Amino acid sequence: MKIVISLGGSLLYPLNEDYIKQIVNFIKNCKEKLYIVTGGGKIAREYIVMARKSGVSEKYLDKIGIAVTRVNAMLLASYFKKKVPCSIEMAARMAPPVIMGGTTPGHSTDAVAAKLASVIKADFLIIATDVDGIYDKDPKKHRDAKMFEKVGVDELQKIAGRGWKKAGANVVIDAIACRVIKRAGIKSVVLNGRSLKQLENAIYGRRFKGTEIIV
Ligand code: UTP
Repeated sequence: MKIVISLGGSLLYPLNEDYIKQIVNFIKNCKEKLYIVTGGGKIAREYIVMARKSGVSEKYLDKIGIAVTRVNAMLLASYFKKKVPCSIEMAARMAPPVIMGGTTPGHSTDAVAAKLASVIKADFLIIATDVDGIYDKDPKKHRDAKMFEKVGVDELQKIAGRGWKKAGANVVIDAIACRVIKRAGIKSVVLNGRSLKQLENAIYGRRFKGTEIIV
């Protein structure tokens, strides 16, 4: 199977040696063809917020975000002595495991992962983040937030809104990723990437805690 995993930056930073080792071992031991796209998380947002004060363009701010996502990719890739591709085309030509960050301004790494999944005709797209799935409202802010076991891509598009908001937008899944998932009919799930057990369960079609996106 070809599997694309969008690994949220919030899982990688603050750096935790234990978790980095777990994820590296998971990539090393997985029998499937893995394509990992790392996010920028809080650190990317902090840089973007600070740089925005200079009055620079949103495109420039996106580029700062992309740089951070690539630092995270380089960290994981260092364990595999592999190059980090800068584009989807380059990633699609490489032998897995492939580890990459962002590509061009105007979307998040979830969209990169969805586009890559579409180009390589992946069997599965996993969006691994720091919450258990997709909720009706932000679970970090609302204790009564309810998690969906399944959500239709049309419903998800309503939650995600339209188009790209702004650099560092912290949305559950960006609108561009939703559109690609819908158009390409990619089998996709959102789950908590801190639990590699859940990641494995999802890959092998076992029961897992998370949200299935129905296309
Ligand atoms: P992320 O993909 O990390 O955004 O990219 P995120 O939504 O904060 O995701 P998590 O929290 O890691 O899961 C960080 C920022 O980098 C820019 C965007 O500004 C994004 O908000 N970026 C990233 C791009 O413009 N293009 C890309 O391909 C990737």
